[in-house]
Amino acid sequence: MESSLEIGFLRVTEKAAIAAARTMGYGKRKYSDQVAVESMREELNRLKMRGTIVIGEGERDKAPMLYVGEPLGRGWTEGEIYPEVDIAVDPLEGTNLCATGSPGSIAVLAASEKGGLLNAPDVYMDKLVVGPTAAEYVDLQKSVTENLGQLAEAFKRDIDELTVVVLDRERHHDLIAQIREAGARIKLISDGDLSAGISAAVRGTGIHCAMGIGGAPEGVLTAAAMRCLNGRMQGRLKPLEKWQEERLRSMGYVDGNKVYDTAELASGNDIIFSATGVTDGDLLRGVRFFGGGIRVSSLFMSLKSNQIRFVDTIYREEGSRLAVSFT
Ligand code: FBP
Repeated sequence: MESSLEIGFLRVTEKAAIAAARTMGYGKRKYSDQVAVESMREELNRLKMRGTIVIGEGERDKAPMLYVGEPLGRGWTEGEIYPEVDIAVDPLEGTNLCATGSPGSIAVLAASEKGGLLNAPDVYMDKLVVGPTAAEYVDLQKSVTENLGQLAEAFKRDIDELTVVVLDRERHHDLIAQIREAGARIKLISDGDLSAGISAAVRGTGIHCAMGIGGAPEGVLTAAAMRCLNGRMQGRLKPLEKWQEERLRSMGYVDGNKVYDTAELASGNDIIFSATGVTDGDLLRGVRFFGGGIRVSSLFMSLKSNQIRFVDTIYREEGSRLAVSFT
C-alpha cells in the first residue's frame, strides 16, 4: 500500500478517537459510537482507494454506516487507478468505557489487500491471544492449565507471576476458576478484549495473555494486530444464542470445533493496523484536549514495511501559537 494511504488510515483512527473522546462520560454509549462511526466514514471517504468494509457496524439492513460491503474512498468515483482495499473497523471499542470515562477505549482499523481479512460473522468467539514470546507455546485446543504451564515456560517464570486478562462475564465463571486454580493472576476487565489482546503482545504492559469469549469481529482485528506484532490469536466461533447458530449456518460455517489461527483470520500480506486511544489504557494514552490543540496517542503498524510505530500527534488549532510540550 502506498505510504500516503497508510498515513491516511492513521488519521482515520485519530479523528474517530477525538470525536468519541468529546463525548467521554456523557453516559451515552450509542451516541459515542455514532460520532466515532460518522467521523471514520467521512475520513475513509477522503482516501485514494476503492475500499470495502469487511468488518464493520453490522449488516446493511441494521447499520446505515460502515456496514459490511459498504464501498468507501475516492476510487469508486474517480477511477480504477486507486487500489482495492478491504477494511475492518471498530470505530469505538469499549463504548461503555468511553460513556463512563473508564480506561481502555480505543478507535481501531485494519486494512489489507482484497481478501486479506476474514469476513467473520457477528457472533462470539472463544479466544486465546499471546505475544511473540509465547506464540509457539500455547494452543486453544489444550486445557487452560496446560496453556498456563506453557506460558510460564515461555516467559521463564512461575505461573503465579503471569497475568491473564479476562472479560468479567458470567460465562467465564469456569475459566476464571481454572486460571485461579492454576495459580495465575487475573485482570478482570468490564469491556475491551481487543485492546487487552494487543497489550498481551507488547512487553512491558504487565499482561501475558488474553483468554475467553468476546466478539468475533474484534477477533479478526486482534489477529491483524498479531500479524504485525508476531503474536498469535486463535479463535473458535461460539454462538451463544439461537440466532447466532442460525447466522453461522446461513453463512456456511458448519464446523463448530474449528480453531482459526492468526493467518486464517488475517491472511493478507499487506496489512495495516491503526489504533488510537480514546481514554487512557495499558498501552495508549487517551485523547487530551488543551486550549489551542488536541493530542492523541496511536499504535500504527505496517506488516509489509515491517514497521511498528507509537505515534504521538498534536493537532493544533488554526492560528494557535501554542508551545508544544514534551509529554
Ligand atoms: P463495544 O465496543 O461494542 O461496547 O464492545 C466491547 C466488548 O467488550 C468487546 O471488547 C468484546 O469483544 C465484546 O464487547 C464482548 O461482548 P459482550 O459485552 O456481549 O460480552
